[in-house]
Amino acid sequence: MKIPYGGDYNPEQWPLAVWEEDHRLFDAAHVDTLTVGVFTWGLTQPSIDVYDFSVLDRIVSRAEASGRQLCLATGTGAHPAWLAAEFPEVTRTDFEGRKHRYGQRHNSCPSSPVFRRLSTEMARRIAARYAGNPSIIAWHVGNEYGGACYCSLCATGFRDWLRQRYSSLEALNEAWYTTFWSHTFTDWDQIEPPSALTEHWRGPDHTAFQGITLDYLRFMSDAMLANFRDEKDAIRQSSRAPVTTNLMGLYRPIDYHRWAPHLDFVSWDNYPPDDRSPARMALAHDLMRGLKDGAPFWLMEQTPSVTACRDVNPLKRPGVMRLWSWQAVAHGADAVLFFQMRAGRGASEKYHGAVIGHSGRSDTRVFQEVAALGAELTRLGAATLGARTPARVALLFDWDSWWALEISDGPSRLVRYLDVVTAYHKALWTLGVDLDVVPVTAPLTDYDVVVAPALHMLKGDLAQRLTAVAARGGSVVTTFLSGRVDENDNAFLMDVPGPLAPLLGIRIDEWDARDHTYVNPVTIGESTYPAQLLFELVIPEGAEVMGTYTADFYAGTAAVTRNDHGPGQAWYVATALDQAGVTEVMREVLAPHDLLGPLAGLPEVETATRVAPDGSRYMFVLNHGSSPVDVPAINGINMLTGTPPPPVLNPHDVLIVKTS
Ligand code: GLA
Ligand code: ZN
Repeated sequence: MKIPYGGDYNPEQWPLAVWEEDHRLFDAAHVDTLTVGVFTWGLTQPSIDVYDFSVLDRIVSRAEASGRQLCLATGTGAHPAWLAAEFPEVTRTDFEGRKHRYGQRHNSCPSSPVFRRLSTEMARRIAARYAGNPSIIAWHVGNEYGGACYCSLCATGFRDWLRQRYSSLEALNEAWYTTFWSHTFTDWDQIEPPSALTEHWRGPDHTAFQGITLDYLRFMSDAMLANFRDEKDAIRQSSRAPVTTNLMGLYRPIDYHRWAPHLDFVSWDNYPPDDRSPARMALAHDLMRGLKDGAPFWLMEQTPSVTACRDVNPLKRPGVMRLWSWQAVAHGADAVLFFQMRAGRGASEKYHGAVIGHSGRSDTRVFQEVAALGAELTRLGAATLGARTPARVALLFDWDSWWALEISDGPSRLVRYLDVVTAYHKALWTLGVDLDVVPVTAPLTDYDVVVAPALHMLKGDLAQRLTAVAARGGSVVTTFLSGRVDENDNAFLMDVPGPLAPLLGIRIDEWDARDHTYVNPVTIGESTYPAQLLFELVIPEGAEVMGTYTADFYAGTAAVTRNDHGPGQAWYVATALDQAGVTEVMREVLAPHDLLGPLAGLPEVETATRVAPDGSRYMFVLNHGSSPVDVPAINGINMLTGTPPPPVLNPHDVLIVKTS
C-alpha cells in the first residue's frame, strides 16, 4: 500500500506501439495508477444502438498486464456528435439564450431526459463490464461538472425543484419578495430561469431578484448532482468500488457541500491561477478535505509543468511540482495524479504539460522530476494513508454566502467573497495554524477558534452554535457584511449584524463603500493598517474597541471590536484591512489559545500536520520561498531521507518529520 501515483492517460489517441513505450516509461517513473476513459463516449458508443468496448478492453488489459491500478471513467464529460445531431435537446442554452449546437465538452443540458438516460446507461454498462477487474480502485464519473443551462427543459426542472422547496406559490412569492416590481406569480409556469432575457442586466451577477437567481444557482448545482447520482447509482448495480468525480476546489458554480454526501471520496484538480499562490492552494486543499469531515482526498489532476488554457502559461520551476505535490499530501491527499501522462498531438491541449512529451524522451527535466517523486512516494509507502489533520481552528466556507454576496446590488461590487476568505485564511496560514475549512452546518464543538469571513447569509441555528463556541471559552471572528440576510436573501428586520449582534456586542446603522483609490487607515494598538472598499460604522454595545478608523467623519470610531462572552470572545472586523492588518488581528485572536504554529515567524515556510491511523504524527515543512531558511530543531526523523531534519531547508525543499 502506498499513495497512488500517475494520472490521466489517453492511449486511445495512439497506436499500440506507443502504449508499449508508455508502460516502459511508467515503470521507470514508479507510476502505478492510471485514470482512463475520461472522454471515451464517442468511442464506446459510436451510434445510438451500438456499444463497442474493444478499445477500452485493450487499454484496461494492457494496463493490468503491467500491474497498474485503474481509476476508470464513465466517459460522459463530452457527448458524441451523433447524440447532439439526433437529439438536439442534449446541447445547452446559455445565459444569453443562445441554443448551442454540437461542439466543445461539458456541454450537455443536465435536465435533458435523453442525456440522463444515455449517460446512465453508459455508466451501467462500463461498471457491469469491468466491475470484476481487481485493478479498479475507483470510478470516475463525468468530468469537472460545471457551467449552467437555461433551456426549457431546465425551466421545467427548476419549477419542479421550486415546488419541492416551497410547496406553495404563496411561500415562493414571500421568499422571493415578489411584491417588489409587480412580480407576484400566480402560476408555476410563469417562472422563468433568470438569464439575460429575463431578470438580469450586465451579466450573471446583476439580477433584479436575488431570490430567483440564488435559487437557480442552487437548482443548477443540484441538477448536475443528479447527473452524477444517476451514474453512481448505475455503477452501484454491479460494483462496490468507490465512486468520485473530479471537483475544482474554489469553484463558484457548484455547491460542493451539497454534493459531498454523495461522493464516496473527494477528488479535485489543482490548477492554481498563478505561481505565487501556495496559501490559496492550501485553502483549496483544506476546503476539499473539509467536504467529507476531514477524510483524505485525491489530488486527481495537476500539471507536471505547464497548463495550456490560459493566455500565458508559466512553467513550474525546478522542484515546484514536487513541492506542490507534497503540499497536497500535507493537507490530506492520499493520491497524487497528473493530467496528462502523454501529451496529445493535436487539438487544444497539445501544449499542455505531460509526464511524457511529444519527443517521448525520459531524460527531460520534467520526466526526471516525476520519476524522482515517484521514488520518494514509494519510499514513504503507506505511512500517511488515512491520516487526519488535528485542527483546533475552523474556517467557515459557504457557497450561499458567496453567491448572495456577489449577486447583491450594494453595498459594493468590489467586495469579493474569496478575497475576504483568502485574506483570513492567509493570515492563519502565515501563522502556521492547522485548520479545517468546514460548511456552516458542521459541528463546531471541537474547535477553539472559529473564523467566519463575510458570513453574509446566516442560516439555521448557526448564531446559537457560534455563541456556544464563545460560551465554552472559544473565540469567534467575523467580518463586515456578515449576518445580513436569511436563507432567502432577505434582510433581517433587526440591527446589523442580525442574530450575531448579541454575541458581537455591537450594532451597525450605516456603512460607506468606496473605490480602490480610497484608503481609511485603521489603528490597532501601536500600528496603523490601510483599510479599503467597505467601512461599516460600528456602535459598540458592550464590545471593547480594538481598532479605530483614522479618517473621515467617523475617524476615531470602532473598526475592530472584541466582545467578552462568558469565558470566550467574539471579534468583529468592520472593514477590509490589508493583509498585515488581518494577520495582526488573527495573531491576537490565536495567542491566548496557544495556537501559533512552531515556524510562525517564517512567512514562506508552511507547516502542516497529519496524524496516521496508528497514531504516528507527521509534520510537513515546506519552503515555498526562493532562499534557504534556518529551521528551528524539530525532534524526529525526516521520512524522505531517514535522517534527522537538517538545520537549513533549501528553496522548494520539503521535510516530512515523524515526530514522537
Ligand atoms: C481539466 C480537465 C482535463 C484537462 C485539464 C487541463 O482539469 O479535467 O481534462 O482538460 O483540465 O488542464
Ligand atoms: Zn437545459
